[in-house]
Parts: sequence; structure tokens; C-alpha cells
Amino acid sequence: MITHLLITGGCGFIGSNFIRYALAERPDWQLTNLDCMSYSANAENLADVADDARYRFVEGSICDAALVDRLVAGCDGVIHFAAESHVDRSIIDARPFIDSNVAGTQTLLDAVRRHDDPVRRMVHVSTDEVYGELPLEPTDARFREDTPIAPNSPYAASKAASDLLVRAAHRTFGLDVLITRCSNNFGPYQFPEKVVPLFVTNLIEDRKVPLYGDGLNVRDWIHVLDHCEAVAAVFERGARGAVYNIGADNERTNLELTQMILDAMGRGPEMIERVTDRPGHDRRYAIDSSRIQGELGWRPTRSQWPEALEDTVRWYVEHEQWWRRVKSGEYREYYERQYRGRGDHQGSASRG
Ligand code: TYD
Repeated sequence: MITHLLITGGCGFIGSNFIRYALAERPDWQLTNLDCMSYSANAENLADVADDARYRFVEGSICDAALVDRLVAGCDGVIHFAAESHVDRSIIDARPFIDSNVAGTQTLLDAVRRHDDPVRRMVHVSTDEVYGELPLEPTDARFREDTPIAPNSPYAASKAASDLLVRAAHRTFGLDVLITRCSNNFGPYQFPEKVVPLFVTNLIEDRKVPLYGDGLNVRDWIHVLDHCEAVAAVFERGARGAVYNIGADNERTNLELTQMILDAMGRGPEMIERVTDRPGHDRRYAIDSSRIQGELGWRPTRSQWPEALEDTVRWYVEHEQWWRRVKSGEYREYYERQYRGRGDHQGSASRG
């Protein structure tokens, strides 16, 4: 039997990787991708599957209630990736984060409620950032699914709000909705405002890499396809109303990450430019993913460093046309603003 899924935000980084993964790994899935094609979406991310008979693209917003209602009515399940996701942008202007992440999620929930049958379930793809930050010590502290929500950036607060709306939809209306909270993703097709593609593409352009603060903030890195596999498992086998953390036990300081990228690119530490720290910069994220591992048998298999990071670096080196197009236009405007805001340094990312 064919399962028809509505995927929101399928032209972004994680959504496009998910669509490619699902078309290859789930022959009985048919996918409709609803994407509003905002700055970080890119039709090129899915050029290789655009003609697949099991894939359909609809341009539109998750805030368009009539459109969402029509699409949800025609599907068996929803996987909700669409979101504004960049912390630094949310510091400049939180409003788009409230519109997409909070209001957009509620629009979807309203439609799922109206079409409870045929819709089997909805997976809401969230982030570990809703838990706030961990201190550097003790080193074995991790976010668990019952860790209190304590977001620190406008971005994280908007995702936390959407998570709570999803929870409420389950408790109040009995909807079959689930939440995933993943750690930092790396892999192909990531928009180069995020640290890995930003640093790799800067180095190819012979620019320095802007490392925030003391460089000792810790992130827990997972390959995007391990994340996608986990989301598919949650859709297929997760418990109604449950939250699942997703991570690959791969904690690194930003300095370690930067050194690894520099090594992979054959460049030295002189390419690092220390810049003013991000306001409210969370010190450390670390995920305890024992629930999804124990209950659903999911394991990360593609996130092993340094190999997985080196493969990702190579992907950006080999797809120069892709990121050069992305790094023009609106991207430049953002960077000019970003570095005007920081003010007290010669932002390498804004040069040229
Ligand atoms: P980012 O990719 O923005 O993801 P998130 O903020 O969601 O974790 O940033 C990852 C880490 O890299 C974060 O600690 C901030 C740091 N960082 C820099 O040091 N320089 C940069 O130019 C960027 C974008 C991020």
C-alpha cells in the first residue's frame, strides 16, 4: 500500500536530504513537498529527483490555511521540517521565526485535527536547542527528553513554542503527533550561513573563518542522513505523543571543528579570525539518544569523524557552482548586516 506523506520545507537542507533518502529507501512512499522557497530553500537541492513519479512539489506557505488544509486532506501523514533555523538571523529579527515556526506549525496542527482521518500521524522536527545550554562540567551531562525546556535564543524560543503547541494538540485533541529533537547536523546542501559550509566555502574563496568568542562552545554533530533515518523510524514506529532525542555522541568544541576543517582543506590556523561572540551563545549541547536507540533500534552509522566531516568538506569543494549561486544575492545583504551589527572587527565573511 502506498503511503502519501506531506513534507514541509523539503527544499531546505534537512528536508531535501530527507526527500532524497525517503525516495531511495521507502519505495511505497509518495511525497508531496510544500515549500515557500524563502531564502534558504533551493530547487537545485532536489534537481536529481524532480521528475520522480513519486515526488510532487507545491510552492506555498505553511501559514496558508486553505492550501495546507487541501494538502493535508490528501495525505496519510505529515513530516514537518519547514522552519526558520538560523540563530544569528533570529537575533537580528525574531518576527519571521514566530510567523513560520509558531503560527505555521499551528496551521498544520489545525489541518491535521480537521483531517484526523485519513492523517495517521505528524512528526514535528525540532531541535535540541529548546533545552537551552549545558555547562562544560560535568562532562557526562546530556539533554534527555524530560530535561526542562529552557530556550535561550529567539530561534530556540520559537521552536520551543511550536513543540509545546504540538504537545498540547496531543493532550487536548488526542492527535497522533510526535516530536524529534536533533543535535547539530552536517552534510551536503546546507545553507552556507551555518558554520560548516560557511567555513569550508570561505576557505575555498581564500577568506578567513570567523570563530565566535573563545571557540570553546561545544556542539554535538550528526550527519544529516543519520538524522533523516531517525525521523523515518519515528514516523514508522514511534509511540503516539512521544518526544525522541536524536544525536550521535559526537561532541566537539568549535575550535576542534575549525581545526579539522582547516586540516581537511590543507590550511593553517592563520586562517582563523576571532570575532565578537554571539549574544546569548549557548555553551554546550549534548544529546542523550538512548530512548530512540532502545525503543526503535535506530543507530547513527554515518557520523563518524574525521571521515564523515572530510566527506562533507569534499562535497562543498566539488559543488562549487551550487554554493557560489547560493552565496550571491540575498546572502550578501545578510552578511553585510550581520557584520555591521558586530561592529568591532573586520568581518572576513563580509569582505568581497
Ligand atoms: P551554527 O551553525 O549557527 O549552529 P547553532 O547555532 O544552531 O549551533 O553554529 C554552530 C556553532 O558555531 C555555534 O556554537 C556558533 C559557532 N559559529 C562560529 O563560531 N562562527 C560562525 O560564523 C557561525 C555561523 C557559527
